[in-house]
Amino acid sequence: MHATRKTYLSAAGKDWLLPFYDPFTKLLGVETVHSKLIRQAAISSGHRVLEIGCGTGNLAILAKRLSPAAEVAGTDPDPKALARARQKAQRRGAALQFDPGFAEELPYPDASFDRVLSAFMLHHVKPEGKPLALRQAFRVLKPGGSLHLVDFEEGQHRAGGLHGFIASIVHSRHGSSPQHIVLGLIQGAGFKDSQEVAHETTIMGRIVYYKAIRPPS
Ligand SMILES: C[S@@+](CC[C@H](N)C(=O)[O-])C[C@H]1O[C@@H](n2cnc3c(N)ncnc32)[C@H](O)[C@@H]1O
Repeated sequence: MHATRKTYLSAAGKDWLLPFYDPFTKLLGVETVHSKLIRQAAISSGHRVLEIGCGTGNLAILAKRLSPAAEVAGTDPDPKALARARQKAQRRGAALQFDPGFAEELPYPDASFDRVLSAFMLHHVKPEGKPLALRQAFRVLKPGGSLHLVDFEEGQHRAGGLHGFIASIVHSRHGSSPQHIVLGLIQGAGFKDSQEVAHETTIMGRIVYYKAIRPPS
């Protein structure tokens, strides 16, 4: 019997577009979004931090730069994106671990991280995979640890003007993560105090930041 190969939607939608992902997202101001998410996560020295769907590693590398005494890892199913992440980390002298893996089956033991971060990843996951991904984030978090997630809100590709045009490029094949569904998924995975921390309208569309805590045991 042949095992079925799990597929994924890569960072830029197609492999040949991957070299353009970093310059394009820099232009769109994604680094500012990453910085906000990291601030919300309040990472302390000694924390173990995991980014799920880390792509080319920008958020994870920034988290390590801002909190050098934290241990930071990133995981993504795309080996080409991970190769870029590793090269970038090495060039910057940042010690991070990048591991291949799907958010739906994280390659880490239970209760091994203080923070789980996720940026613009959830809308890449198929609907049936989203509850699994949130349950896995819950599983790998230590009791008392927290999840910090940012993603596009629903319907941005229908907005007008420049913002609507850029949103349609960014989202055309990717879809979005309706807010009530994300909060429902987070709660369904067992998290406590799940909340929308902030939302904002960016050139890419409207984005929402969430925070949730794995209850202390
Ligand atoms: C838009 S990129 C975001 C990358 C990075 N988080 C950032 O903010 O720059 C989405 C990433 O999700 C990854 N991805 C797609 N399906 C996934 C899955 N099932 N589990 C984990 N990551 C996945 C893609 O390979 C891609 O690198």
